[in-house]
Parts: sequence; C-alpha cells; structure tokens
Amino acid sequence: MSSFAARVNSITPSATMAVKRAAEELKRRGVDVIDLGPGEPDFSTPEHIKEAARQALAQNFTKYTADSGIIELRETIAYRYNQNYKTDYTAENILVTSGAKQALYHISEALFETGDEVLLPVPYWVSYPEQIKLMGATPVLIQTHAHEGFRLRAETVAAQITPRTKAIIVNSPNNPSGATIERSELKKIVELAVKHRLWLIYDECYEKFLYEGAHVSAAEFDTQHVITVSSVSKTYAMTGWRLGWAVAPKELIQAMAKLQSHSTSHPTSISQHAALAALTGDQSCVSAMLSEYRRRRGFLLGELAQIKGLKYSAPPGAFYLFPDVSRFFNREIHNSSELARYLLERAQVAVVPGTGFGVEECIRISYATSGEQLREGLKRLREGLQNLC
Ligand SMILES: Cc1ncc(COP(=O)(O)O)c(C=O)c1O
Repeated sequence: MSSFAARVNSITPSATMAVKRAAEELKRRGVDVIDLGPGEPDFSTPEHIKEAARQALAQNFTKYTADSGIIELRETIAYRYNQNYKTDYTAENILVTSGAKQALYHISEALFETGDEVLLPVPYWVSYPEQIKLMGATPVLIQTHAHEGFRLRAETVAAQITPRTKAIIVNSPNNPSGATIERSELKKIVELAVKHRLWLIYDECYEKFLYEGAHVSAAEFDTQHVITVSSVSKTYAMTGWRLGWAVAPKELIQAMAKLQSHSTSHPTSISQHAALAALTGDQSCVSAMLSEYRRRRGFLLGELAQIKGLKYSAPPGAFYLFPDVSRFFNREIHNSSELARYLLERAQVAVVPGTGFGVEECIRISYATSGEQLREGLKRLREGLQNLC
C-alpha cells in the first residue's frame, strides 16, 4: 500500500469512541453489556425541534446555505450572547459548524502552526490535544488536582506562559471531570490572555448542565481575545444533528468560514433549521433533562459512597463522575485502560478510562443513561471492583 501523510501518525483515535466500539462489539456477540460510557444524552430530541426539521423538509430547505450558516441562526446565537452576557456581537461574529467539534477544528486550523504552544488543562476532552498536534503545534499540559475537584487556577496557567504560547483552552463544565471554573479565576485567565495577547478558547458545550452555582462565560470579560464554542448537541439531545458554533472576532470568523467553505461548505440545512427552533423555542425541555440528570447524579453519588477505596468528588456540572480508581490497580491491572478492559470483559460494564483525558488514575462514568441501566451498571461496577480487593 502507498504511504499516508505523517500527520495521521501523530494522532490517536478517540478513546471515547474506542470504548463505544468495544462495548458494541460485545453486544453484537450477544453479551449483555451495561454501557456507562456514553458522552451523549439518552433522551430523544424534543418533539418541537423534530417538527421544525420536518417543516424545513416540507418547505424544501434542502439546498446549499450560506457558508457561515443561515442568517437567522447566526443572529439568534449573537442575540443570546448579548442578552446573557451584555456583549455586542452580530451575525458576523458567528460561524455555524457541524458540531462544536468542527468549530474547534477550524479554530485550530486558523490559529495554530508548527512551533506554537497551546495551554491545555488536564483532564482535557479527548480531541483537543489531537487537533493541536494535527496542526503541528504542541499541547502544554496544565495539571489540576483531584483533591481540589480538578478546579483550574489562573496562577497555574500563568506559570506556563512562554513567548511561544498561542492560546489557552478552557472547558467549563468540564468533560470528563464535571468541574467548573470559578468566576474570579476565569476573569484572571482572560486578563492573562489580554496581557500576553493570547487566544482564550472557551468550550461551554455543557453550559446548561449545572447542579451548583451559575454558568460563567468568558465572553463576559472580553470579546477580542475570547473565542466561545458551544452546540445544541448536549443541551437539546441533538448529538447526531451535528450543529454547533464559534463566537469570535469577525476577522477570525471570516478565516474559519474560508476553511469551512472548502471542507464541509456548511452544516446540513435541515439541522440549521432544527437548531433555530431549539434556540428560539420552549426551553422547558432543557430544565426537564437537567432535573433528571440531577436525580441520577444523586443516586450515583450515593452508590459510589458504598464502594470502599474509590476516591471522588461531587462535580458541579456536565453528566459525568470521574473517580480515582488507582486503589484497585494490582499486578495485572496497572492503569485505567486495563481496569476498564477488565470491567468490560469480566463485569460486563463499560466505563471510559481516564488515559484518553490525560489522567491515568481515573475512570469516567456517565449518567446520561436510564435509571435502570444505571442501577444495574453500578451493581456490576461495585462487584467488579470488590473482586479486585
Ligand atoms: C467538551 C466537549 N467539547 C466539544 C464536544 C463536541 O461536541 P459536538 O457533538 O457538538 O461536536 C464534546 C463532545 O463530547 C465535548 O465533550
């Protein structure tokens, strides 16, 4: 076979997708696997959003749209930021993309090149380091600590800034830890970005899933250095529709739109109309999902308390718990990947190893799964771990 480009060899496949594949393979072979791996809501997309998509089809919104997305959607996104955070964005500050992932990809393409350093707090969402490396840049890891609930501190960020630093990525609420950033720390990090002329990429995909405190957006503090990314994927249970956005200074949006115009052109026309309905329609579906996540989180925390040797905190956001399982490592199981494999094969419960998020000692447990699955999954997890003691 002829050779591949070197850039492909510099990256690894998504760890979360790998678990999904392994669990699905076992299920296909008839094994009854409980999947606590999913990074997506188990709810269906709300009916009024699906209806908007049916209407869009009926009205033949099936042609190419503007490269940056339909104007109504871009205006709606800008309006929401202006309402919530007193910014003065217009449609020119918005690029609508095929999910937050593509927004982040185009940001990396537009900003990073060989020699650049990008500050990346650990734990990180799996795709950030790979996107940075694909552009020839270097992720510089910033440690946060389990005993502080993985909260990011501005002083730790400041200590890693060098003349090569191009950007800082902050994700709050965080996948996988569920940690959120404190308002005062975020303000200080934005000030660092302004002072050192860096980009602050702020991923707020889980902004609506908060169990303590209120969400804080980096756009509240600055709009010249801050790039905000979000999507309808988690908020409205729309992962498969592939619809997200970036909010940034208009010159950067134009640069990203150029890249998008030569890759996907734009997200699907139907998804754009569905997203418009999601953002402008009744929001009670979001609070209903939040209360169900809150209930499951309470159940899960109660169950985990009964597993001796597990260390964890109660995270304020997202729909994940990220306990430290290092107490269960032994002569055969040296890390979270081996532990996740053991749990999948011997206890038939799928969790995501912390390895892909940069933390070897932890596993990610998702509660974006039904109460019944959660109950059985926790029983299997407890038995599986206790067999290792
Ligand atoms: C932190 C974070 N950012 C971005 C994404 C990508 O979201 P989307 O489905 O909108 O592309 C995810 C998905 O899991 C995520 O967890």
